[in-house]
Amino acid sequence: MIPKECKRLAEVDFPIALVSRYSAKEKYGAKGHPNLLHLWWARRPLGACRAMLIALLLPDPCDPSCPEDFKRRARSILSRVQGSVEDTDADLRTQLLRFAANFANWSNSAKGIYVETAVGLLRAAHGQDAPLVVDSFAGGGSIPLEALRLGCDVFASDLNPVASLILNTVLDDIPRHARSGLADELRKVGKHIKDEMARELSEFYPKDSDGAIPIAYLWARTVTCDSCGADIPLVRSMWLSEKGKRKRALRYSVERRKEVPPRATFEVFTPSDDSDVPKGTVSRAKAVCLCCQSVMVPDRVRSQLRAQRGGADAIVSKEGVRTGGATLLAVVTVRPDVVGKHYRVGTAKDYLIVSKARKGLEALVAGSFDGVPIVPDEPTPVGGGTGAGRAFSIQNYGMLTFGDLFTARQKLALASLCSPLRTERGSLSQLLALAFDRVAMSGMSMTRWNPSAEKMQHTFGRQAFPIVWSFAEVAPLTDSPGNWVSGYELIADVIDALPVDKTGVAEVADARHLPLSDEDASVWFTDPPYYDAIPYADLSDFFFVWLKRLLPGNRLLRDPFDATNPLTPKQFEAVQDETKSVDGQPKDGIFFERTMAQSFAEGRRILRDDGIGCVVFAHKSTEGWEALLSGLVQGGWVISASWPIVTEMKTRQRARESAALAASVHLVCRPRQQDASVGDWADVLREVPLRVGDWIERLQSEGIRGADLVFACIGPAMEIYSRYRRVEDAEGREIPLGGNPSATEPYKRGFLAYVWETVGRLALEQVLGTAEARARNGAAGALEEDSRLTALFLWTLQATEAGTNGDGDGVDDEGEDEDNDEEEKPKKKKAGFTLIYDVVRRFAQPLGIHLDKWEDRIIDTEKGVVRLLPVAERAMQLFGDVDVSAISRRIEQDVKASRNYTFAFMQDVAAPPEIRPRGRGRAVKTGAAAEETPAIQTVTTLDRVHAAMLLQASGQANGLRAMLKEEQQRGPDFLRLANALSALYPKDSEEKRLLDAMLLAVPRT
Ligand SMILES: C[S@@+](CC[C@H](N)C(=O)[O-])C[C@H]1O[C@@H](n2cnc3c(N)ncnc32)[C@H](O)[C@@H]1O
Ligand SMILES: [Zn+2]
Repeated sequence: MIPKECKRLAEVDFPIALVSRYSAKEKYGAKGHPNLLHLWWARRPLGACRAMLIALLLPDPCDPSCPEDFKRRARSILSRVQGSVEDTDADLRTQLLRFAANFANWSNSAKGIYVETAVGLLRAAHGQDAPLVVDSFAGGGSIPLEALRLGCDVFASDLNPVASLILNTVLDDIPRHARSGLADELRKVGKHIKDEMARELSEFYPKDSDGAIPIAYLWARTVTCDSCGADIPLVRSMWLSEKGKRKRALRYSVERRKEVPPRATFEVFTPSDDSDVPKGTVSRAKAVCLCCQSVMVPDRVRSQLRAQRGGADAIVSKEGVRTGGATLLAVVTVRPDVVGKHYRVGTAKDYLIVSKARKGLEALVAGSFDGVPIVPDEPTPVGGGTGAGRAFSIQNYGMLTFGDLFTARQKLALASLCSPLRTERGSLSQLLALAFDRVAMSGMSMTRWNPSAEKMQHTFGRQAFPIVWSFAEVAPLTDSPGNWVSGYELIADVIDALPVDKTGVAEVADARHLPLSDEDASVWFTDPPYYDAIPYADLSDFFFVWLKRLLPGNRLLRDPFDATNPLTPKQFEAVQDETKSVDGQPKDGIFFERTMAQSFAEGRRILRDDGIGCVVFAHKSTEGWEALLSGLVQGGWVISASWPIVTEMKTRQRARESAALAASVHLVCRPRQQDASVGDWADVLREVPLRVGDWIERLQSEGIRGADLVFACIGPAMEIYSRYRRVEDAEGREIPLGGNPSATEPYKRGFLAYVWETVGRLALEQVLGTAEARARNGAAGALEEDSRLTALFLWTLQATEAGTNGDGDGVDDEGEDEDNDEEEKPKKKKAGFTLIYDVVRRFAQPLGIHLDKWEDRIIDTEKGVVRLLPVAERAMQLFGDVDVSAISRRIEQDVKASRNYTFAFMQDVAAPPEIRPRGRGRAVKTGAAAEETPAIQTVTTLDRVHAAMLLQASGQANGLRAMLKEEQQRGPDFLRLANALSALYPKDSEEKRLLDAMLLAVPRT
């Protein structure tokens, strides 16, 4: 047994870089990966959970109270997998951490030697009684599954019934029955159902007369032009295949007819150049008529689609002529002996089959499953948070029930698949239901055709249900992803690969009230919702409505608070989403914070006194963090360590421009003891910068940068603060965790404001030097506010160096954002780097940077997002309307005349620059005076660096040379700033290129 006072490995060290590398590289799509069982949003990489669990469960050998017996046994166990361990405690610690890191590698996860070593080490630490690991926000189950793998007892719960069903399957069903041939039985029954399905459905997916097999039907929702009456199929892109030699696209011709509206007819062709391909007809809900070029405003498009309940279905005459609804743009086919995919336009025969399917469906929906209508009639979600944007706008397009998300043929196929599944019982029925969900998420009207991959792409990785104008209806009987066979085969592979035969307990439960006794658990390790990031319950309803039809009476598929709720429980879901309310109160930040505090207090209740906790969190707003931390402190926890682990995909270009987070922080915590002391604010204030400073250094050496680094610094600061029962200033006033960041008195301002300030100050010190970091009140010699702002901004934007990652859920590509059809997308993204306002403000304010002063000069703030203006956008401000070459010539002349000068660009933006001798009216003031001068009047070092970059950009070599010479004489600031910025701008940015080229032109002295 590990004594209570003995530190665990996770409290002293953690192999951040290696575990990050393995986590980011984890192959979610690899055959048999447990994530393939069923989709769940924002799952933790298994490797990170595995390594963290080991570090939480094992004692630190260097701790004086670490049991000798553990050390002895650990040495001998480890030597089997890692070679001999030196006789020192320090080496044992190193080797244990190395083992945790190596085991995080996906390819080692199922290797007997690794699993046995881990189980052996845990036994050496905890004896024969396996420790109980509890996860009360368990979602898709990464944490509890890894705990099972390590031989722990496991209790996992989630408020969401779909999550609980996944948990039950992976923690109980599969381990219980895998050894008795569960996978093979699933394959057998699955195949049988497939044959049955083929018999029933093949008439709705016929082969072409030439033997080609349709695999997908590409539909466009369609509106009618208000001007000329023509149909406008809403097409995002006319491309069908953008692949190398097999490029195909659609083009159209307009047929003008007497007395009836014109119409566009489509044909498939092989473009020889991109410009041959006509533009799509819709963008952000604005449609353009192909026949008369009139524009339909989004409101008209929406109201027409509303009248068609989304318009995924075609209305067809007896002759097979489409008379309304969706337009069949093209059919994708394959041929038995020919490689590649083929495309043809839709025919009357295709339309007739659709209308037949509709009739078939009518007959089917007349029936019900024990009184529940076969086609889901439950309402679709609305709203869906503020932070993630509005996740759900489908109701605006008339998709009011879940049934409206499918075409008639898709409903027919799913409904007929339901019937045989409902007759199955036991664990098999649950697995088949999960397989069904994969068919449903691919067989709905929100799947796109991806012309570059030539395959269907579902939208479920997106954490929203966006409207998709033109969608791909896949044929569920063919050999394409998302068909029934792939659904059950993927699950059978998971069963085959899962190296676990111990079972765990899975329940539907609110994390605030767990069905466990006091002090049951040894580890409480959980990954709560990230503030406003994901509307889990709303998203999961898509699956829930089908699952409850497939598994009637399943004990997990229910709302524990409201038996009459036809959907998943929403009321107590921990999420910041002000479009929802509880007891008449919006679910705001306060609701989230309170729910977290109650859930954390509950975690504390069920944990043994000598136990350890760990909470994973990632959020890019300081509000999200403050709510979480306050919940932890109120819940009675002390943070004893924190480790950022990079878990997200390699940051993409787009993400890098806006500081996407790649890391999630693992906050290791312990129950706060009743007798914790009162802390002295002065001591806390002294200690924080030292700890945070060391921490920044350590994390940078592990590749953590920018916003990830900022939020990872919360950990050590919180370790200091949360150690105490309360922290007081000299007058005995409590320093709260959060407060009013603009207040000056610490007891009003709150602790976290100091943390952000400290991080900002240390960052500035690192990139510009100590003078700037102390520049709160405009210390002499410091670079001006705009330089500090720019440097901080760029520092925060730096991207963590993560590995690359495969697909989100491995089977189908997740939709990229640029594929978004939603009309709420911001207008064409402006150039420049962006950060959220809240983060910039928290940094800027305490460092004496007045954001409003720099608005339109250095930054541009819109809708809570701050954009750093690209240098090119400053040309007008700096040079006015004058041609750059004129400015360049003037600089040169002055140099020839041996005149010293300074710039006065900012006197009047429209006027040409004034060049004044340096002696008179030196424009750059430093110190307090500079802070008082209205920004627009003062030329700053940053302005001069930007001016030089602009000269460089327009190739004004002579002017630039003259200017650089002048700047060298002026003093070191210009070059100091230019060098600092060059180190901060992203490698592939235009600014970096200009700065480096400019720096090369600096004359050597
Ligand atoms: C970040 S996810 C967990 C993901 C999980 N670690 C994984 O790897 O799949 C957070 C989970 O909290 C659940 N949740 C939200 N509110 C809850 C509550 N009040 N009680 C229990 N679970 C809740 C959500 O349904 C969601 O599955
Ligand atoms: Zn028209």
